[in-house]
Amino acid sequence: MTANPRSATALEAVPQFDLTAQYAAIREEVRVAVDRAMTSQQFILGTEGSALEGEIAALCGATHGIGVASGTDALILALRACGVKPGDEVILPPFTFVAAGSAVSALGAKPVFADIRPDSYNIDPSEIERRATPRTRAIIVVHLYGLAADMDPILSFARKKTIPVIEDNAQAIGATYKGRRTGSLGDIACLSFYPTKNLGACGDAGMIVTNSAEMEARARTLRNHGQTGKYVSSEPGWNSRLDEIQAAILRVKLRHLPNWQRARQAHAAEYHRLLSSTPGVAPPITPEGCEHVFHQYTIRVERRDTVQQHLSDRKIGSSVFYPVPLHLQPLYASLGHKRGDFPHSERASQEVLSLPMYPELRSDQIARVAEAILESLCN
Ligand SMILES: Cc1ncc(COP(=O)(O)O)c(C=O)c1O
Repeated sequence: MTANPRSATALEAVPQFDLTAQYAAIREEVRVAVDRAMTSQQFILGTEGSALEGEIAALCGATHGIGVASGTDALILALRACGVKPGDEVILPPFTFVAAGSAVSALGAKPVFADIRPDSYNIDPSEIERRATPRTRAIIVVHLYGLAADMDPILSFARKKTIPVIEDNAQAIGATYKGRRTGSLGDIACLSFYPTKNLGACGDAGMIVTNSAEMEARARTLRNHGQTGKYVSSEPGWNSRLDEIQAAILRVKLRHLPNWQRARQAHAAEYHRLLSSTPGVAPPITPEGCEHVFHQYTIRVERRDTVQQHLSDRKIGSSVFYPVPLHLQPLYASLGHKRGDFPHSERASQEVLSLPMYPELRSDQIARVAEAILESLCN
């Protein structure tokens, strides 16, 4: 009997994300960098970390970089640098990873949700205006999936009300908005180097970037026990430092980031060519003046769960970022929100699907993904 070449067993798996090819390509460079850090025997707050801080700040078009232990810590520290205290309100979108919400809650502040725009999945500026109160102490804007939020109206409202704007730039390093890089659009920005990010460490790591000398000083102090001098602490802080080995690895990967970004953008263009006229599929948008860095290639698709199952049957990975919006999370039950409060976020959580996306993805794999989607929608 001849094997059916299209049967699932004969098919090569296409994962939603894969780091192994990346490591194979840069293995020697990484080993040299790790050895350099090991040979120095300087593990915390050394030369690799401060060099990385300068390089990432420059990439974002910001003056200062402060390395921290994770993107979540970056958010907590940025909120503190903005003066957020228990009882304050912080506006953020409900359609994002929980980190922004948990950072607000960790400080005893109240998350106030503002719905997203259905086309970009990013926070809707008019919703921010609707939700702001005299108790609003900060606004967190998430550049979801690698696309900048519409910052101009947000910043003009925030400046008028003197509310600081924090960019959650965990997913959008290198993206631009009207010719400017994300990370230097608001007052302070947070990056995550979680391994799956466009620039990922080999463990947890994060960074804060800002143009404000005052916020920089505050964040730098807070990440190191509030110390303003050797063994002199001026306020309660904690230990959130990016270590030298991670910094050395990130500096290697940073050199490759422009090529990886171009590869992601080329894959996105290929997906777009194959999927944009497929009925039932809405590909991601890239508004005029924005450069999308495609941390994820996320479509909105009819019968999402059926399509996802069909892809899985064809050994194609996909993910739902994020299936439960923050206002419906058990964590926020006490806020008393109900289904229907943030309709665009709720609809997105039912309809989005992130397709395989990583620099080493091949065109034949992209073609297989598109074909499987079409197959599933036509059945
Ligand atoms: C949008 C967003 N914000 C914040 C974070 C938190 O970063 P970390 O996992 O480094 O704490 C992540 C990632 O995991 C994220 O995707």
